[in-house]
Amino acid sequence: MPLAATGELVGGAAAARSAVVAFNIITLEHVEAVVAGAEAAGTPVVLQVSENAVKFRYGRLLPLARAAAAAAERAAVPVALHLDHVQSDDLLRQAVEAGFSSVMYDASRLPYAENLAATRAAAEWAHAQGLWIEAELGEVGGKDGRPPLDAHAPGARTDPGEAHAFVTDSGVDGLAVAIGNTHAMTERTAALDHDLLKRLAGALDVPLVLHGSSGVPDGELTAAVAGGIAKVNVGTALNMAMTRAIRDFLAAHPEAVDSRKYLGVGREAMAREAARLIGVIGTPRT
Ligand code: G3H
Ligand code: ZN
Repeated sequence: MPLAATGELVGGAAAARSAVVAFNIITLEHVEAVVAGAEAAGTPVVLQVSENAVKFRYGRLLPLARAAAAAAERAAVPVALHLDHVQSDDLLRQAVEAGFSSVMYDASRLPYAENLAATRAAAEWAHAQGLWIEAELGEVGGKDGRPPLDAHAPGARTDPGEAHAFVTDSGVDGLAVAIGNTHAMTERTAALDHDLLKRLAGALDVPLVLHGSSGVPDGELTAAVAGGIAKVNVGTALNMAMTRAIRDFLAAHPEAVDSRKYLGVGREAMAREAARLIGVIGTPRT
């Protein structure tokens, strides 16, 4: 089927009081695994490419994007492409040609006024192109190998009043919120601030996005979706599944040289984890 639009998947999930899962893809194995996992679960999914993944691919967006689009167009479920954590305006402007229907513009490292100005300019451009745009207010820590933010550090939590003004003044379509979540956690021990999420959901009329979801236990994910999260971003969990499976396979088969053997078990492990997470997160709740 044709590429789906992220905005429609997120809007549909929000209307059903559910969430769409957006998985970060790095290799073709990630692409195929996420599509297989979504097909097994029978739900739509978002394939997202971060600016860091583009850097890993020698700075080129198109090779991975074209592969993802080709896989999406052949999937049995709706699949959308999203450009994630974009800081570079040059990368932002490649989104449309590469088949993305949405972007997350990340100026959250900047002071409020600068974040707002940069995000507003990005939103104006994105809307002129017909793109759905997400931004971040309050910084979700743990990016680029940096340690998590201290819970009391300025910006470690998204303020509902500030978020309302930010969304209104920037015109973004979705907001990534900092509610105790942190990127790149390898233990599922994050405790979310559900009271804050409730206040954010009450203050904002755009879908809320949870980043750093790999470190969030199943029950916390379910509660976050019930509390108003409509897009759940997952990256590290897939890499953990892939790496563990490959490590185990190579330990058991030290003579192996055919890359299809270990990439295959890595891909299967990611597909299982993707399907499992979609089952936890993507089921409509009443
Ligand atoms: O934008 C990407 C996500 O926030 C992924 O975070 O690697 O901690 O799951 P994660
Ligand atoms: Zn993120």
